[in-house]
Amino acid sequence: MLAGKQILLIIGGGIAAYKSLDLIRRLRDQGATVVPVLTKAAEEFVTPLSASALAAQKVYRDLFNLTDEAEMGHIELSRAADLVVVAPATADLMAKMANGHANDLASTLLMATDKRVLIAPAMNVRMWGHRATQRNLAQLQGDGVLVVGPNDGNMACGEFGPGRMAEVPEIIAAVGAALGDGPLRGRHVLVTSGPTHEPIDPVRYIANRSSGAQGTALAAALRDLGARVTFVTGPASVPPPTGVDVVRVETAAQMAAAVTAALPADVAVFAAAVADWRVDNASDSKMKKTADALPSLRFAENPDILATVSQMTQGRPPLVVGFAAETDDVVANATAKRTRKGCDWIVANDVSPATGIMGGSDNAVVLISDDGPEEWPRLPKTEVARRLAARIADALGAV
Ligand code: C5P
Repeated sequence: MLAGKQILLIIGGGIAAYKSLDLIRRLRDQGATVVPVLTKAAEEFVTPLSASALAAQKVYRDLFNLTDEAEMGHIELSRAADLVVVAPATADLMAKMANGHANDLASTLLMATDKRVLIAPAMNVRMWGHRATQRNLAQLQGDGVLVVGPNDGNMACGEFGPGRMAEVPEIIAAVGAALGDGPLRGRHVLVTSGPTHEPIDPVRYIANRSSGAQGTALAAALRDLGARVTFVTGPASVPPPTGVDVVRVETAAQMAAAVTAALPADVAVFAAAVADWRVDNASDSKMKKTADALPSLRFAENPDILATVSQMTQGRPPLVVGFAAETDDVVANATAKRTRKGCDWIVANDVSPATGIMGGSDNAVVLISDDGPEEWPRLPKTEVARRLAARIADALGAV
């Protein structure tokens, strides 16, 4: 699966480093060449000799090593690989990466590389939950760094919770996906996301509270499974993922046009919170406040993009997925919506203010398909995205 690929493996200084030795072996089993780099702290946990013997490669450790630099400069080392993997990625390494430090070989390589970077964080549960680490994580994800894990579980420090490094097979799967080798390789996926803005006049508009977080996470998860993703986004408050084709729109009408232009697709996922109505009598110039009368807005219905695509007689994507943001009778309303619109799946969620879902980082969804409703636990939006992307890949395999 990874034949001919070269992986630069940066091993950070944490107890999970012992798993990285196994990772070297398993990556080589898949046909990859692994070039290990050890941080100073990593050498407290695993020896350079072990890493070198398992990789059957020279191990790099120092930024200022004249022999290494003469053989292969650190810039070249950072570029020769197809992918850079950091495992374990400690809190300290993540902080360095997020802030652009380059004060040892590992951080310098990470700054100098022009390749994608995949990190497998591993640390104490409180260090993982610390605001600084979460801030750094968000920064790194925003910068396009891929992340696998951490998992929940018992930790070497005796605590329980998120912080365990992802297991070796999970890291291998993430490596495959990062190298475009995932189950959606060769597939085109269309994702809509974010709110729309419907102008009232050149300075005012009608909007909604969608942040675009779920659609963005979904596009990233589909990309990570190897899909070519067209991401049609309204003015969201989170940045679009890297490695996808971004089409920015503002209004529902523009979104409808962008979706049509992006077809054909193997899958279309409509996660955008599209305004149902636009202002039909929007003014070309700023409306003035007058003493005698309040402005009167006349509304017109927007095109229903999901229904239109679901009901295409020619060129309909084989799998069409809609979202349903509801505040009451979630399953009943969403089930009816699925039938009315004609999509294959509906991902329903309760967006009542008390749930904190709209604009928040978690989601609790019910997936409604031909098989009926399937309730998922409340999960981070990134995890909902990962599971949904995996389901999409499964379904496409069966199409
Ligand atoms: O009808 P409602 O807005 O609740 O349906 C939600 C689903 O329909 C979402 O998947 C949304 O992206 C999609 N939609 C659309 N075009 C519209 C309105 C909603 O694609 N004009």
